Amino acid sequence: MASSGGNSDNGGALSAQIFRSLSNSMKQNQAVEFSKYASLGTVDASGFPSVRNVCIRSLEEDPVSKRGALLISTDARSVKTVEFALSAVKSPDQRAHVEVCWFFPLTREQYRLRCHVALIASEGAEIIRTSEEASIAPPAHGSTGATPTAGGSAAASSSSTLTPSPLLSKGLSLLLRRDPVSHERHVRFWRSHNEVGRSYFEMQRPGTVKIAAEKGDLDRYQPQPLSDDKPSFNFLTVLLLPYSADLLKLPRFEESDAENAKRSALQHVEHHHHDTEMRKKRGQTRWKHVWDEQKNEWNVVELNP
Ligand SMILES: Cc1cc2nc3c(=O)[nH]c(=O)nc-3n(C[C@H](O)[C@H](O)[C@H](O)COP(=O)(O)O)c2cc1C
Repeated sequence: MASSGGNSDNGGALSAQIFRSLSNSMKQNQAVEFSKYASLGTVDASGFPSVRNVCIRSLEEDPVSKRGALLISTDARSVKTVEFALSAVKSPDQRAHVEVCWFFPLTREQYRLRCHVALIASEGAEIIRTSEEASIAPPAHGSTGATPTAGGSAAASSSSTLTPSPLLSKGLSLLLRRDPVSHERHVRFWRSHNEVGRSYFEMQRPGTVKIAAEKGDLDRYQPQPLSDDKPSFNFLTVLLLPYSADLLKLPRFEESDAENAKRSALQHVEHHHHDTEMRKKRGQTRWKHVWDEQKNEWNVVELNP
């Protein structure tokens, strides 16, 4: 297994080959707006998979852990926040584990990144309470759970035992950062969101049943006044810290087109030509990068695709 650098190198966490590769892919695909969206996979309280798209807003070195980090923002009241917390409580290493699957269309690369998670909430936000409410909001994927409720506050008083709050509080306390450096990053991250993006955090709790205003919604959410320096209490910075990466590169369009043309020409003369098949397969490459926490370095091996 070859070492591909890490924090021990002078260049810091992002000098590892996997982050250099990721950074190149991001640059090379910039022209495609949707290339910044990736799928984020978690496991729900009943063990069901849960996948959603998220916008990866930054790749940077996390000054606290000194590891490479992908930054996303989310609503602290969302179900995924609960799933991060539950993962930390249930995992033997007391860390949350998620998987990000990210496809870059122009370079035809797929990254499957296993990541640890760190969260930064706004000062004064009651993140534990808001996430508790999310955990008893509607079942996201038709598994077990309480009936959808309006607004979310009604759900908070439900007696659902889907995710007992001590577990949730413990999980969140394992993930939440309280240091000033992280807090400063949180405020800067908030500022990088435009007005429309910020306004989403002051809407009703995500995933609850929408009640028409004219029906009278006693539990209507009271939006918090926002400013550049005061992120919404519902705004959560999520750091995804990769610890393994499976990178699959598909052959470029031109290559596969050329191969296809060659293949049909060959098939004309000679059916089932093994060499032609082999050459086609060799167009793909697959690499596995694994972070060695003890040595603080990344190792890489090439896999059969
Ligand atoms: C293209 C796209 C980008 C999205 N980006 C984000 C994001 O950055 N953060 C986020 O919380 N939700 C994002 N969403 C919404 C999520 O996919 C999801 O619907 C929402 O976060 C609720 O998920 P949850 O109930 O599993 O927590 C995005 C959706 C789409 C279609």
